[in-house]
Amino acid sequence: MAEILETAIDIAREAGSLLANYYERGIGFDLKGDFDLVTEADRASEHLVVERLQSSFPQHNILGEEGGLREKNSEFCWYVDPLDGTTNFAHGFPMFNVTMALERAGELVAGVIYDPLRREMFAAERGGGAFLNGRRIRTSRASGLEHALLATGFPSRKRHENVNVHFFHQVAMSSHGVRRGGSAALDLAYVACGRLDGFWEFGLNPWDMAAGLILVREAGGRYSDMRGGPGSIQGEHIAVSNGPIHDELLALFADVFAGRYRYRLPQI
Ligand code: IPD
Ligand code: CA
Ligand code: CA
Repeated sequence: MAEILETAIDIAREAGSLLANYYERGIGFDLKGDFDLVTEADRASEHLVVERLQSSFPQHNILGEEGGLREKNSEFCWYVDPLDGTTNFAHGFPMFNVTMALERAGELVAGVIYDPLRREMFAAERGGGAFLNGRRIRTSRASGLEHALLATGFPSRKRHENVNVHFFHQVAMSSHGVRRGGSAALDLAYVACGRLDGFWEFGLNPWDMAAGLILVREAGGRYSDMRGGPGSIQGEHIAVSNGPIHDELLALFADVFAGRYRYRLPQI
C-alpha cells in the first residue's frame, strides 16, 4: 500500500503544479449549472490524474468529478476531484487543491490532498497514520464546542434547497466561529492537522470527502452522518471532528433537525 500512496502523492504533486500554472495565468470559466463553475484547469487536471492512474493501476475503477466512472469491474476504485475549490480558483481566492482517494471493497484505504499554493501534501493510508509533508499529524485536543473552530460549506448545485444556514447560525453561536473556505477537502485536511476542530456539510460528493475522511480517521478524529449514524462518502451529510467534541456537535445538530433553536436570529 505504501507504494500506491507514493504514486498518488507524485500524481497529486504533478496535477497541483498544473493547477498553480493555470491559476497564475488567470483563467476563465464555464457554467455546468446556474452557479456551478468549471474551468479548463478542472478538465486538464482530471485528464492528467486519470491518465497517470490508468497507467499505474490499469485494473482499477476510477470515478472523476468531470469525466464520470471508468469501470474496470475491480474491487478498487479511485475517487478524483481534479480541482476542489473551483469557485475560489476562478476568482483568484487562494484556497483550492487536487485530491484523490482509493477505496477497496467499499473501504477507504488511502487518500491524498495537495494544496499547490502552500505546497502542503496531506496523505494517509489505512492503519498507517496521517501526514502533512511527511510529518505525522493529529487532530486537535479541544474538549468542548465552546472552544472550537469549525468549518462548513454550501453546495453550488441545488443551493436554494440547502438548509445549512440554520446549522451555520447555531454552530457559530455555540463555538469560536465557523469558516467557509470553499474547499471541502482542505476543510477536512485542516481538521486532521488540528487547524480546525470540526466540519460538516450537506450534499458533498464522494470525491470531495473520500481522502479527507481517511485523513481525519488516521489522525485520531471521528466522523459520522449529522444524525449520528455511520458516516459514508455516499451519505447525504457528514459530520467530522477531532473526536472529543463529536457528541456535543451531534446534540446541537439534533436540536436543529428538531427545530429547537438554541439561539434566535436577531430581527433586522
Ligand atoms: C466544492 C467545494 C466547496 C463545497 C462544495 C463542493 P468543487 O467542490 O468543496 O467547499 O462547499 O459543496 O462542491 O465544486 O469546487 O470541486
Ligand atoms: Ca469538490
Ligand atoms: Ca471539483
